[in-house]
Amino acid sequence: MASLTRFPGVALITGAGGTGIGAAVAKAFATSGCSRFAITDINETTLAKTRQAISEINPQAKICSAEGDISDPGFVESFLQKAAQTFQRVDYSVHCAGILGTAQRSHETAVKDFDRINNINYKGTWLVSRAAISQMIQQDPLAEHPKQRGAIVNIASQLGIVARPGAAPYCASKAAIINMTKSDAIDYSCDDIRVNCVCPGVIATPMTTGSREVEERLRPAVEIAPMKRMGTPEEVADAVLFLCSSQASFVQGHALVVDGGYTIN
Ligand SMILES: NC(=O)c1ccc[n+]([C@@H]2O[C@H](COP(=O)([O-])OP(=O)(O)OC[C@H]3O[C@@H](n4cnc5c(N)ncnc54)[C@H](O)[C@@H]3O)[C@@H](O)[C@H]2O)c1
Repeated sequence: MASLTRFPGVALITGAGGTGIGAAVAKAFATSGCSRFAITDINETTLAKTRQAISEINPQAKICSAEGDISDPGFVESFLQKAAQTFQRVDYSVHCAGILGTAQRSHETAVKDFDRINNINYKGTWLVSRAAISQMIQQDPLAEHPKQRGAIVNIASQLGIVARPGAAPYCASKAAIINMTKSDAIDYSCDDIRVNCVCPGVIATPMTTGSREVEERLRPAVEIAPMKRMGTPEEVADAVLFLCSSQASFVQGHALVVDGGYTIN
């Protein structure tokens, strides 16, 4: 993985457990010199593994971690409070927690399934983004990022741009994230906070490879993409780190597609 720049600030990452995109983002930050982390996931065991991985990459790293449900406003508030108490700031806030849900058309989808997807993917991303912005707005820019009080990166999806059969709630939750990103980018430009999102294509993570049924469901999407392969979590992490870095200092409200060409085909 390319080491784009050093990250002197505090990186907050949701969905950081496991071997998916959030964990890859955490490790990429550590590899790129970041030494202060606030990480969270609903899965305590996998979150502990990411904590360990960060420490192995950077033994000096200070890590504040908490497990909890990202769709719970009380948990999000307490997590951000813990991060602020530990570090007094949040510089890069990357929102990876999400679920895929089952494949059903709208008339077959139960309200509780619709709510679950939207509560985790859309509302959970909004809750953390809102809390991170509330912290960023109060802090001074770091000397290394003079034009940046903070950088938010939301993880959307190629399915926020184009649709797929049997995935209306998921597609809608990701489209919501893209437009929320643009709205927040407009609202917080005057505060020197940049808000962008990444739209991954099919990436090899537990979400896509964890069950045979899901792998089969996603196979056509892999074949439609001109590059005809799944992406890696590290390839998404590279895009995330670029958007958080000073190298993206004039990139605002952008939806960066990392999909092997799926959406152009
Ligand atoms: N893998 C892909 O092909 C792909 C494509 C486009 C977008 N995405 C998006 O990327 C993000 C990361 O997905 P991934 O592929 O790494 O999946 P993943 O399942 O590996 O990681 C998702 C993480 O979110 C956590 N999580 C789930 N529900 C949670 C909740 N209620 N509260 C807190 N944490 C919760 C999980 O424990 C897991 O660690 C998701 O938002 C997903 O929608 C993934």
